[in-house]
Amino acid sequence: MSPTSSELSVATYEAVVELLLRHEGLDLSSYKDDCIRRRLSAHIRQSGLPEWSWLDELERSARERSALLEALTIHVSEFFRDPETFAYLSHTLLPCLMERARTQGRSSLRAWSLGCACGEEPYSLALLWQDLDPGELKLEILATDISELALEKASQALYDPGRLQEVPPEMLEAFFLPEKGGYRLCPQTRAMVRFEQRDILNLENFPEVDLILCRNLLIYLDRDHQDAIEERFARALKKQGFLVLGHNESLGPAISDRFECLDRHHRIYQPRSTRSPSD
Ligand SMILES: C[S@@+](CC[C@H](N)C(=O)[O-])C[C@H]1O[C@@H](n2cnc3c(N)ncnc32)[C@H](O)[C@@H]1O
Repeated sequence: MSPTSSELSVATYEAVVELLLRHEGLDLSSYKDDCIRRRLSAHIRQSGLPEWSWLDELERSARERSALLEALTIHVSEFFRDPETFAYLSHTLLPCLMERARTQGRSSLRAWSLGCACGEEPYSLALLWQDLDPGELKLEILATDISELALEKASQALYDPGRLQEVPPEMLEAFFLPEKGGYRLCPQTRAMVRFEQRDILNLENFPEVDLILCRNLLIYLDRDHQDAIEERFARALKKQGFLVLGHNESLGPAISDRFECLDRHHRIYQPRSTRSPSD
């Protein structure tokens, strides 16, 4: 019964799905099957245990469940990942949001980075904002992820120099402080970002925001769940807000009438208005 290849028995897969839902509230069946199965069987192989005894361990040990969750969720990210998209944010989307906020007499804007990994994406946004010299206008960034470990690293904001290669030298100089173990982001930039553990599959309590960055996360989920989440984005975004997806992601046909595609290359979308213009 011990897996010798990426083959995983149906019974084990179903037992893991049931167990994670019961103990952790995570619905693995919403993820694309092949990708989860591959990582799951690699994780079981690494444990060195036969499937049945690894399952016992998973039932008993919160630590093993947390190790499994880490193995199933990939935290690969980088500062200014896909630099052209961040350039577009800097010269088009953020100035547009700023101008609108000023016209409406608002003192702050809200952005949400979902699947924020170790903080690289929301901090990149915060850095861009500070660089634009917004005066009194504030940007409040909510950054969420399912992984406690990633969120812990994000709130430390201490990065190895190798992970800061996309940060322009003048930004590194102005906003990071060198210390043992790497560079730590300065307190003012960190204060713009609030981290929270959240499962994107829980469609309750989506905050109302002006900008959503959801990049390289939906790609792991099946199309039905992508559609359901994107539909929630359409309702959570303020009128004329923006949704930014990852370079390899796009809206499915079932949901594309809820959004206008503003830039196909950068995967920028705006919800079509179905609400009163008072928002
Ligand atoms: C590949 S990283 C993307 C990081 C960043 N957005 C980027 O584009 O560089 C995907 C992140 O999604 C998180 N994730 C996976 N499943 C999730 C879920 N159900 N709810 C919230 N976050 C999840 C992972 O923990 C991981 O940090």
